[in-house]
Amino acid sequence: MCGIFAYLNYLTPKSRHEVLDLLLNGLKRLEYRGYDSTGVAIDSPQANDIVMVKRCGKVKVLEDAIAEHFSGKEYDEPVMTHVGIAHTRWATHGVPCETNSHPQRSDDENSFVVVHNGIVTNYKDVKTFLEKRGYVFESDTDTEVIAKLVHHLWKKHQGYSFRELVEQVIQQLEGAFAIAIKSKHFPGECVASRRGSPLLVGIKTKTRLSTDHIPILYGKDEKSSQTCEKDTEASKTKVLPRTESTSEFMPLEEKEVEYFFASDASAVIEHTNRVIYLEDDDVAAVRDGTLSIHRLKKCLDDPHAREITTLKMEIQQIMKGNYDYFMLKEIFEQPESVVNTMRGRVRFDSKSVVLGGIKEFIPEIKRCRRLMLIGCGTSYHSAVATRQLLEELTELPVMVELASDFLDRNTPIFRDDVCFFISQSGETADSLMALRYCKQRGALIVGITNTVGSSICRESHCGVHINAGPEIGVASTKAYTSQFISLVMFALVMSEDRLSLQQRRLEIIQALYELPERIRQVLKLDSQVQELAKDLFQHKSLLIMGRGYNFATCLEGALKVKELTYMHSEGIMAGELKHGPLALIDDRMPVMMIVLRDPVYIKCINALQQVTSRKGCPIIICEEGDEETKSYSSRSLEIPRTVDCLQGILTVIPMQLLSYHIAVLRGCDVDCPRNLAKSVTVE
Ligand code: F6R
Repeated sequence: MCGIFAYLNYLTPKSRHEVLDLLLNGLKRLEYRGYDSTGVAIDSPQANDIVMVKRCGKVKVLEDAIAEHFSGKEYDEPVMTHVGIAHTRWATHGVPCETNSHPQRSDDENSFVVVHNGIVTNYKDVKTFLEKRGYVFESDTDTEVIAKLVHHLWKKHQGYSFRELVEQVIQQLEGAFAIAIKSKHFPGECVASRRGSPLLVGIKTKTRLSTDHIPILYGKDEKSSQTCEKDTEASKTKVLPRTESTSEFMPLEEKEVEYFFASDASAVIEHTNRVIYLEDDDVAAVRDGTLSIHRLKKCLDDPHAREITTLKMEIQQIMKGNYDYFMLKEIFEQPESVVNTMRGRVRFDSKSVVLGGIKEFIPEIKRCRRLMLIGCGTSYHSAVATRQLLEELTELPVMVELASDFLDRNTPIFRDDVCFFISQSGETADSLMALRYCKQRGALIVGITNTVGSSICRESHCGVHINAGPEIGVASTKAYTSQFISLVMFALVMSEDRLSLQQRRLEIIQALYELPERIRQVLKLDSQVQELAKDLFQHKSLLIMGRGYNFATCLEGALKVKELTYMHSEGIMAGELKHGPLALIDDRMPVMMIVLRDPVYIKCINALQQVTSRKGCPIIICEEGDEETKSYSSRSLEIPRTVDCLQGILTVIPMQLLSYHIAVLRGCDVDCPRNLAKSVTVE
């Protein structure tokens, strides 16, 4: 959801054309996050000026506009030091259009230009304040107040550095943001900051970096600091200390260096694997090629430095390879991604499971009052899918919660609760808010995420990294199966010393061992699924029914169909059929039913009969060779047998493939469905 990419080259000559290519490429890497408009700002070849190009629509549209706008020879001349900022916008305030696209500017002269992710909740107050001082707003965005507020402060406090101005500004802002700012008054400098929205800095140097951390510089204490006036009505009581950068530490100083500011690592990995994840209220500033990180106040447990992390991700991991879409690639990666989730954790020889990230907390978890599994969308479905097994193997009450609803209800949380936050991105605002809510109430927080360094990762007490690899397609696929397995592994860890459960554990561990091969077998159904998609793609609706271990597949399958194909779809608990949904059934309503040989088989057959006796003609997902079940319909998909609690992994894959093929047949944008974003960083 929105993407920031900024690039600063210091003493590393690059032509403006090269800079623009870099910026466009960065935006392409962020496309998967979801967006509806784009923009860039670079220095003009005419002295001391900033030029912006913004467009509604895809990065390709911006690319064409840039080719037209910056065609002159002067754009080929190398520039020693330069700052360019770029953005993909997902509209929150104001419709997608050029004026509302970012960068947003402070004035007609583009003195300060800003790219922003998140929502400034008090922007109306700040806007009123600025309008009273003569500022005229051109967009409907909340972002424009940031650019204009920096400008206002710059006029008032001429001696302030760029970084100090931004520090003053962020204190006036409420809500969530990640920002990168460029100014014609501070050429060669870039200042970035975040609160509640992810941002990282990538560092590329010619030689090995001389340090593995960047010290944090803290503001002077308030008594001795200068203060600036109460700058907006929104901050009536705030005292704004000025920080200073003298410190016992040296910031990062390299002779020739390039910096990348980005919303996530996929945009920088092809340039560098050395990154710093910024924390809330960090202000990162580059001046004369030197990066420093500032915070206004030091709290007792604040660290002295931000670590420079080495990313393990490879560029190939985020490339499409031979697949037409990232989503298809990610579906077909599942035989490997599930192995990566289990690697080093499930020991098939000794039939044991170790989860290093939560090992020390297991005794505490075993003493808890209840387990709560919290997430949104697909991540929530992975909780639904594993709840029954968790109840069985932990013998604890297990609650599954949608993060947004959980907060709306002010759900009671106690110190002896263990709360799992499941999130592919680790940045979903609703999940993060729910995490903080539970943490404040003293619960133990366990993160189940796919993104190292994400907010949920950092704010959890302990956790499991699902290791599914980067998931670029907006619709989650391989992350779901890896979340599923992570929770199954947790259940196995919890039941390690329960004698009565040993047989069950062994059966599950054996099935986990066979799982990659079983997934490969299911993927071979692809052409059959494609044929079914041809039957279904012109319909308006698709009902997906099942129960027990496969109910989550119905919910997840319906979500995939909705988001990718824009068709109506509903996951129905088969037991609920006669309580209402049966009224939908006739000979034209497309229905899929999951009927496997598990403890609820007979009940599923009852539901199947209720459907067929109303002239329904369901597509059945059943077990390989189950002729009896197949005989209820002319269309079926046979999946290999596995242990009941892992069936959901095999039944969800045909649904992922089906939604993919229907989307292609309907001409939908598979990797970036309309109105959706990969990382939902607003509530
Ligand atoms: C659906 C999908 C979304 C996400 C949801 C939570 O395919 O991807 O429903 O699952 O937005 O996102 P994360 O897992 O990043 O917290």
